Amino acid sequence: MQLVHTIADLRAALQGRGRPSLVPTMGNLHEGHLALVRQAKPLGDVLVTSIFVNRLQFLPHEDFDSYPRTLQADCSHLQAHGCDIVFAPSERDLYPEPQTFTVTPDPQLANMLEGHFRPGFFTGVCTVVMKLFWSVFAGSSGTAVFGRKDYQQQMVIRQMVRQFALPIDIVAADIHRAPDGLALSSRNSYLSASERAQATQLHDALQRLSQAALEPGVDLTRLEAEAMQALRAKGWHPDYLTVRQRSDLQPPAGTARANQSVALGAARLGKTRLIDNLEF
Ligand code: PAF
Repeated sequence: MQLVHTIADLRAALQGRGRPSLVPTMGNLHEGHLALVRQAKPLGDVLVTSIFVNRLQFLPHEDFDSYPRTLQADCSHLQAHGCDIVFAPSERDLYPEPQTFTVTPDPQLANMLEGHFRPGFFTGVCTVVMKLFWSVFAGSSGTAVFGRKDYQQQMVIRQMVRQFALPIDIVAADIHRAPDGLALSSRNSYLSASERAQATQLHDALQRLSQAALEPGVDLTRLEAEAMQALRAKGWHPDYLTVRQRSDLQPPAGTARANQSVALGAARLGKTRLIDNLEF
């Protein structure tokens, strides 16, 4: 396995290696990321994992500085999982000058939910993902694997790839959960022991919401408000708990449709903001 830090070294390492598959990450890899790596491995001739904590997608008050950076441990895991190249640029490598050109996603899709509570987040994500795609694929074809936990993110990236006609297949991998149902996330490491024990309540709330949303004649807006209130009563600070159509993340007209819907949630428990979703 090769560890490279610059785009030039990455391109040199990829020379003559065939069709790449890419798993973009911000590092601090857990079993969920490693599942993406396992899924990506047979999808190309050479597997690249990128590790870069992207300042552009953090708001000033968010956890950019404290985001866990564990490159050595990440590399050991990646080596054990058959990764061929780790691309771990420094900020100066990836953004040698201020990144004043950015990729602005469709506001219809990107300004709601995560984009509403984290303004600019998807511009930061699309800008770095476009740059990673150009670094790895350089205009030729390949595959990139993203986790479904960031549900809206993979939809925004799919739309970006489609509209820019990038020759890249986007594969969405299932959410990896702990045995008690908590979706794996690097931010879970911020939880105290008691918060960790409580953290499955977000997933439980989404399960209840998705079941109730299928009852004939339900008022979805009321259900969502009740679900948020129930979480608040347990000490959470929810940003949203909502039922949307999978096709465009808009609220369904009337009741939710089975197999076409997704319940999405984001909520803070103490200092930790968790997100999760459930297709139903
Ligand atoms: O999902 C993530 O970890 C990040 O948003 C990504 C796609 C690596 C871009 O920085």
